[in-house]
Amino acid sequence: MKPAPKTFHVKSFGCQMNMYDGDRMSELMSAEGMTPAEAAEADLVVLNTCHIRERATEKVYSDIGRLRKNGRAPMIAVAGCVAQAEGAEIVRRAKVDVVVGPQAYHNLPELVAKAARGEAALDTDMPVETKFGRLPARRRVPPSAFLTVQEGCDKFCTYCVVPYTRGAEVSRPWGAIVDEAKALVDAGAKEITLLGQNVNAWEGEDASGNVQGLDGLIRALDRIEGLKRIRYTTSHPNDMREGLIVAHAEVEKLMPFLHLPVQSGSDRILKAMNRSHSRDSYLRILDRVRAARPDMALSGDFIVGFPGETEADFADTLSLVDAVGYAQAFSFKYSPRPGTPAADMAEQIAPEVMDERLQRLQAAINRDQEAFNLASVGRRCGVLLERKGKLPGQLIGKSPWLQSVHLVADAAIGDMIEVEIAAAWPNSVSGVELVHEAA
Ligand code: SAH
Ligand code: SF4
Ligand code: F3S
Repeated sequence: MKPAPKTFHVKSFGCQMNMYDGDRMSELMSAEGMTPAEAAEADLVVLNTCHIRERATEKVYSDIGRLRKNGRAPMIAVAGCVAQAEGAEIVRRAKVDVVVGPQAYHNLPELVAKAARGEAALDTDMPVETKFGRLPARRRVPPSAFLTVQEGCDKFCTYCVVPYTRGAEVSRPWGAIVDEAKALVDAGAKEITLLGQNVNAWEGEDASGNVQGLDGLIRALDRIEGLKRIRYTTSHPNDMREGLIVAHAEVEKLMPFLHLPVQSGSDRILKAMNRSHSRDSYLRILDRVRAARPDMALSGDFIVGFPGETEADFADTLSLVDAVGYAQAFSFKYSPRPGTPAADMAEQIAPEVMDERLQRLQAAINRDQEAFNLASVGRRCGVLLERKGKLPGQLIGKSPWLQSVHLVADAAIGDMIEVEIAAAWPNSVSGVELVHEAA
C-alpha cells in the first residue's frame, strides 16, 4: 500500500505519438488534482515506454532502478509500448505498481487509486471505443502541438513490434480531430503536426458524410483561423496518394516537409522486410512530390544490418541516399524483437558489421543534411519561435523545412517572424529577422 499520490511526473520515450500520449496523461493527472513535479520528487512517476528497439526497452528497467535510489519508493506506473508487450512480466520483474497500455491510459486515475489500495492495477486492453473521448480538454499547449489522428498499423513489416503494441490501424473521426485542432489553436498552438504510425492512411467521413483522406482533413484544418502551419508524420510509401501530393502544391499552410521512411535501398531486403514497395516505386513517389512542391525537404528512416543484408544490399542503400539527397534522416541498427518474423531469420548480421555500416550511412546522411542547410542560406521564410536559446536574447524556431533556426530578435515564443537564413551548420541554421518596411 502507498498513499494516494499528490504529485506526478510523466517521462516519455520513443515516437511523437508517445509524446502526445504523455501530454494527455499529464492533463489527466492534473484534472485529478495532482500537481506536476520533478521525477526525483514526484509521488507518482509514469514511465511512458517504447519497445521499438532492445535498448529502448532496457532503459525502462534502468530508469526504475534509478527512481528507487536513496530509499525512495514512489508509485511507478509503466505505460506505453513496453507495458503492452510485456504486461504482467514487468510487475514480476520490477515490482511496479501500475501497468497500462497505450490504448487504455484513460483508465490511469482508476488504476492509480487501485494501486494505492494495494490492489493489482494492470490494463492492457485494446477497447473498440477509443480512449480519446474520455480524456480531458486541451489547455496549455506549446506553439507547435501534436494531434494524434490515426493509431496502429496493419503493415506487419517483419522487424517491427508496432502492429503488436499499438494494434490495428484505426482513424479517429473527422469531427473529433477538427474539434481538438480548434481547441489547440484556442489554447495557443500556431502549428499542428498530425500524428499516426501510418498517418497518410487516415480515412474518415467529413461533416457531410463524404469519405475523405488525409488531404481532405488537412484542407479542413487549413480553414481554422489562427492556425499557421500544418505538418504530418509518419507516412508509409504505399499510402502516399495523389490527393496528398496535390495538397502540397495547393495548401499554403501545409509545410514543405515529408518524412517518408524507406528502410533499405535494396529490393531483396525490402521484400524480406515485407515493405510492399520497391526502391523504384519509392523514388518515383519522391519525384511526384518534388514536381508538386520543388522545395520539399525530404526525410527518411533506415535500418542497417537486417538479416541477410550483404555488402551489395548496403551499397544499394547508400546509392539511394545519394539519389534522394535527404534534408535529414534517421538510421538504426537492426534490433531483433521477440515475436517478430525477422528475429527468427537465419543470417543475423554481426554487431561489428552493423556498426561499420551505420557509420558509413550516417556519414552520407550528415553530408546531405549539411548540404541542404548550406543551400538554404539566403532563403527568406517564416520562422515559428518555439523556445529560448542558450545565449542571451537568443530564440530558436523552425523553418518551413523543419530546420532549427537560431536568431536574435525582439519577439516572443509563439511568434511567427520573417527571416533570412544567414549561415548554416550541420544541425541548424542561423537567421536574421527581416524588418517590415514602412508602408
Ligand atoms: N510507422 C512508422 C514508424 C515506425 S517505427 C513507419 O513505418 O515509418 C520508427 C522507425 O524505427 C522505423 O521506420 C524503423 O526505421 C525503425 N525500426 C522499427 N523496428 C526496428 C527494429 N526492429 N530494429 C531497428 N529499427 C527499427
Ligand atoms: Fe512498423 Fe512497418 Fe507498421 Fe511502420 S509500417 S509501424 S515499420 S510495421
Ligand atoms: Fe516506440 Fe511504441 Fe512509438 S514502440 S516508436 S513508442 S509506437
